[in-house]
Amino acid sequence: MLNVSAIIHLARTVVGSGIILVSIVSALSLAALYVFQRKLVYPSMLKKAREKVDTPDMFDIPFENIKIKTKDGEVLQSFLMLHDSNSSDYTNKTILILSPNAGNIGMFLPVANYIYNNLNYNVFIYSYRGYGHSTGHPHEAGLKLDADAVMDFIASHKQLSQSSIITYGRSLGGAVAIYITSKYGDQISGMILENTFLNIPKVIPHIFPLLKPFSWLCSEFWNSEEDIKLINSDIPCLFLAGTNDEIVPHDHMKQLFEIVGTKNKSDKQSTKIWRDFNANHNNTIVAPGYWEIWADFTKEMVIPIGK
Ligand SMILES: *[C@@H]1O[C@H](CO)[C@@H](O)[C@H](O)[C@H]1NC(C)=O
Ligand SMILES: *[C@@H]1O[C@H](CO)[C@@H](O)[C@H](O)[C@H]1NC(C)=O
Ligand SMILES: *[C@@H]1O[C@H](CO)[C@@H](O)[C@H](O)[C@H]1NC(C)=O
Ligand SMILES: *[C@@H]1O[C@H](CO)[C@@H](O)[C@H](O)[C@H]1NC(C)=O
Repeated sequence: MLNVSAIIHLARTVVGSGIILVSIVSALSLAALYVFQRKLVYPSMLKKAREKVDTPDMFDIPFENIKIKTKDGEVLQSFLMLHDSNSSDYTNKTILILSPNAGNIGMFLPVANYIYNNLNYNVFIYSYRGYGHSTGHPHEAGLKLDADAVMDFIASHKQLSQSSIITYGRSLGGAVAIYITSKYGDQISGMILENTFLNIPKVIPHIFPLLKPFSWLCSEFWNSEEDIKLINSDIPCLFLAGTNDEIVPHDHMKQLFEIVGTKNKSDKQSTKIWRDFNANHNNTIVAPGYWEIWADFTKEMVIPIGK
């Protein structure tokens, strides 16, 4: 005769251990997710970007290869590309390029070249920790220390500190631009944001819908949604948004534009400029009209005006 209660007991044990197994696997997955999210958010190893870093002499740009030391002992690689401040067409403006999360600063040099040679601005670009030839590993608190060290360097540099500094960042670079522009408003004359996000936990579910319930596990936050409120309302800002952005929902840029402070609410366009492009996350920069608005903004809206 079947022992019904023994079967029920057996079934319970099987189901029970199944639940335990599922729980263990889930817990391990979540732990892995927690550990590996930095690799997801900062894929600095991709495309051999830690090995070879191109230098501005590839484009015949005169430059200084400057090592910047952070407060916690990391050493950052940076390229400073200056124009002659005595020349009659000197613009007295410097673009501080904040890199996106993949690749290295060498891969951004075609853009630096255009800004330096066609638009005639000084350019400063640096590698975050754990990127390119900078030491260390990337994480939010560390990247903020990097930005602090860079702003110290700019403040102590004779020609840079005299020039109008414009922060320019795409994606993760936009979050760093917002951090710098909100914290160092006195040193910044303009900001250009491209396809950046409100914060990381709000982007993750868009890229990985299954992770939506676990966004609380994010250790990387980049709270631009709050930081952008701290930006001095006098600082001109340009918002460049790809309407088909497949990584950061277009709405994040729209919301940042709504949140950012402006002196004259009824004339938002006077200091905050918005431009949509029929483009995705990475190719907005080559969309028709992108460099025209970029050049107009830096020339006409950023003090000194019109150079
Ligand atoms: C650059 O601008 C600063 C501040 O506006 C000014 O003090 C400095 O003389 C200018 N430098 C040049 C070379 O025009
Ligand atoms: C610019 O001119 C000043 C004054 O004539 C001179 O002292 C300085 O060395 C010049 N700077 C450069 C980069 O040529
Ligand atoms: C604010 O902008 C509106 C619209 O352009 C303009 O009429 C008004 O004079 C501005 N107010 C101030 C205080 O500049
Ligand atoms: C687009 O940019 C994202 C984030 O910056 C990067 O992860 C991805 O590899 C890029 N895609 C292409 C096709 O370049």
